[in-house]
Amino acid sequence: MTPRGVTDAGIRWTCTTSSADQTWDTGRVLGACLEGGEVLTLDGELGMGKTRFVQGLADGLGIPPDHVTSPTFAVRHDHQGRLPLAHLDFYRLVDPDEIDWLDLLDGVPQTVIAIEWAEKLPTTLPADRLSIRFTPGPASDDRTITWSPTGPVAERTLRALRARHGT
Ligand SMILES: Nc1ncnc2c1ncn2[C@@H]1O[C@H](COP(=O)(O)OP(=O)(O)OP(=O)(O)O)[C@@H](O)[C@H]1O
Ligand SMILES: [Mg+2]
Repeated sequence: MTPRGVTDAGIRWTCTTSSADQTWDTGRVLGACLEGGEVLTLDGELGMGKTRFVQGLADGLGIPPDHVTSPTFAVRHDHQGRLPLAHLDFYRLVDPDEIDWLDLLDGVPQTVIAIEWAEKLPTTLPADRLSIRFTPGPASDDRTITWSPTGPVAERTLRALRARHGT
């Protein structure tokens, strides 16, 4: 799958998927690009496909994707594939101190950290991260995905992803 509607807006990149399977596939391609230690933030309204995307990401890392369920209540799920994956969901967190108390962002240096609803606690986020934002449309099942790196590691990741998509 190649996301359609790819546009280049400087360092930011936008693509559109038109089904849950395409969103999964976009995550899978990203998973295959990762080298370890990346931080990915996934934001967008309820039901936008953040968990679906992480299932694809897990697939790309060699993790059985059916092991990946929403961590809304447990806050963090850990998986081991080609790289370790920490899948978090900040939806229910209200206090930034919980991040430290619960060691939520800990891991070995190779750990890939994927955080749903990261914008709920923006002050807690590592400086170098790839922001992945899901918005609805333009058509009914479409999701527009906007990728914004905030540091050199995230920029490398986005470049690798774009190379895979040939853009
Ligand atoms: N283009 C699309 N991409 C992703 N999911 C889609 C798309 N079109 C329809 N869907 C549907 O939207 C839903 C996305 O659910 P998912 O749990 O991944 O959302 P979420 O963003 O993680 O929600 P939450 O904020 O509750 O965690 C699924 O039911 C999926 O089938
Ligand atoms: Mg979710």
